[in-house]
Amino acid sequence: MKILESKADAREMVRQWRSASQKIGLVPTMGYFHQGHLSLMEECKRHADRVIVSIFVNPTQFAPNEDLASYPRDLDRDKKLAETQGIDALFIPRDDQIYAPEHKTWVVVEDLSNGLCGKSRPTHFRGVATIVTKLFNIIQPDVAVFGQKDFQQLQIIRRMVRDLDLPIRILGCPIVREPDGLAMSSRNAYLTEEQRPSALCLYQALQLADRLVREEGVESCSQIQTRLRQKIESFPFTRIDYIFTGDPDTLKPLEQVERPLLVALAVFVGTTRLIDNILI
Ligand code: PAF
Repeated sequence: MKILESKADAREMVRQWRSASQKIGLVPTMGYFHQGHLSLMEECKRHADRVIVSIFVNPTQFAPNEDLASYPRDLDRDKKLAETQGIDALFIPRDDQIYAPEHKTWVVVEDLSNGLCGKSRPTHFRGVATIVTKLFNIIQPDVAVFGQKDFQQLQIIRRMVRDLDLPIRILGCPIVREPDGLAMSSRNAYLTEEQRPSALCLYQALQLADRLVREEGVESCSQIQTRLRQKIESFPFTRIDYIFTGDPDTLKPLEQVERPLLVALAVFVGTTRLIDNILI
């Protein structure tokens, strides 16, 4: 497995693969791999001859009060896991390789970026769309793979690729969960032993939403929201950022249930902000 630390090296590697007519897949990540990341790599291998995984904790998608400095990192472990996974190359650029001084150019996907996570993280998706565009420009992959846990991110990237005519196929992969249902996330590492049981509030609330719609035939989104709020607040250490019930394509809230319905949550457990979602 090649370790590429500069844009020039990454471009040269990709040029060689392309001149051998190989199809290139990219898995953009911020590292600290878990089973969710490994499932993205697996999916990418099914659709490409060569797979490159980027590890870059992108500063522009963190607000000044967020967890950029403490974001979990373990490069040695990530390298071993990627190698075991049969990845062809890891692209691990330094910050100054990616952002020149006085970087002033941004990619903004309007509307889709404003609701859900965009409300409490107003500059987050601008940072995501910009770094993903830069990675797409550096690697020029045929296919790129993202997780559905970040549902809003996935929809934003799909829209960006469509709107900007980027010749890249975007694949979304199902959420990977711990045996008790907690969605895998690098940020789960922040949870204390005491807080960990409360992190289950997201999965249990989503299961409740599923039962309310499928089994009880509830049609009012505000009724679903009320029941989910009660469920989440019955767990200690929790503070709700949002409960979203709406259209998975437009990301607009709905008053009455229409299927498929996206139910998405962001909840602080202690100081750790967790997200999860379900399509019903
Ligand atoms: O989902 C992530 O890990 C990040 O938002 C991404 C897509 C790698 C961009 O930094």
